[in-house]
Amino acid sequence: MDVKSLRINGARLRHTLEEMAKIGATAGGGVHRLALSDEDKQARDLFLGWLQEMDVEVKIDEMGNMFAQRAGKNNSLPPVLSGSHIDSQPKGGRFDGILGVMGALEVLRTIHENRLETKRPVTIVNWTNEEGSRFAPAMAGSGVWAGKLDRDWVYARTDIQGKKFGEELKRIGYRGQQPVKKQPIHAYFELHIEQGPILEEEGKAIGLPKGIIGLYWYDVTVEGQANQVGPTPMEGRRDALCAAAEMILKLNELPAGMGGNMVATVGEIHNFPNSRNIIPGRVHFTVDIRSWDDGLAIRAWKEVRKNFEQIAGKRGCTIWIDETWSLEHTAFDQKLLKRLEGITEQLAYSKHSMISGAGHDAGYLNQVAPTAMIFVPSIGGRSHVEVEETKWEDCERGANVLLHGILQSALGE
Ligand code: HGY
Ligand code: MN
Ligand code: MN
Repeated sequence: MDVKSLRINGARLRHTLEEMAKIGATAGGGVHRLALSDEDKQARDLFLGWLQEMDVEVKIDEMGNMFAQRAGKNNSLPPVLSGSHIDSQPKGGRFDGILGVMGALEVLRTIHENRLETKRPVTIVNWTNEEGSRFAPAMAGSGVWAGKLDRDWVYARTDIQGKKFGEELKRIGYRGQQPVKKQPIHAYFELHIEQGPILEEEGKAIGLPKGIIGLYWYDVTVEGQANQVGPTPMEGRRDALCAAAEMILKLNELPAGMGGNMVATVGEIHNFPNSRNIIPGRVHFTVDIRSWDDGLAIRAWKEVRKNFEQIAGKRGCTIWIDETWSLEHTAFDQKLLKRLEGITEQLAYSKHSMISGAGHDAGYLNQVAPTAMIFVPSIGGRSHVEVEETKWEDCERGANVLLHGILQSALGE
């Protein structure tokens, strides 16, 4: 068989994505499929059902990571691994993460129906809790698997209602028996939407990221004094929300102040007691700083942390800071990148080299195995929103590059 002429089944890939988009579908056309929610379970069950139609060995580990391995000629060889995540942001998009899992499924189906015998096994994976929205940190499933996060620390993480990660994982029936432990992997590929505007602006079909920028997450709690809004004079108030507001604007000015090459965002804030006629007593907000230059990100944080402490002091508030999580910048495997470049040329797809501003499980996989990612354009550069959209033909092109990346690694060397 001329393997080079093989292509995935674009209609079948589209069908799987459309079926998945029905799970947690929102009125605005997105999906709400938070990690370890009933919707996550439903989507996992659907994925499992599709896997069981093929001759693959399914394993679910203690973090709920789902692996499906198709045997090769020599199963003692480390497998080629590919996948991404099924969980979504609150009112997120229909492509983020799920495209990488469905793309890997489609590759396995294509290999299976063509009865290809690969030298080494091919394994696909759904990583648990990539988003880190309901349970921080992000990429928890792949982080524990890679030995970079502690399983029991993640199990103890709570969501806004105080529900624990480990208990929710058990509740949805995906806390597997398989020890969560990295294995030798020959190569890891992850297909993902770009989640930014570059490919669309450049008019390119395929993005080949050189790596992922560093991510730094912090949690800030500001404590003032709640009181009745009417009788309490402005003078001497210890208004936690005003203190937080000043801090948030300081963070917003930080990237420019540090000379650029970084982003800084407060995405989540909670105000207590959050009543129109009570002066806010306590505020919790999150900080997300990202840069390819890890030293810059860390210097920037030290700088702004000092500002936060000064603002709290000036406003008679106390401040607690948790340096919650970080993942240094990732530089992907040059050999795999060259391989993917060759494949995009062979498929006559236009390509663009770039850096990923979004975090991915590939960031942890890269610490264990040669890793590379394949991006496809996001319409309007939008993501983490209900209007997130990628053209079906772009999904198909990305999955074809994934197919040949996996085949070259599984058939060859
Ligand atoms: O935060 C990120 O970039 C990813 O969506 N977890
Ligand atoms: Mn993602
Ligand atoms: Mn995401």
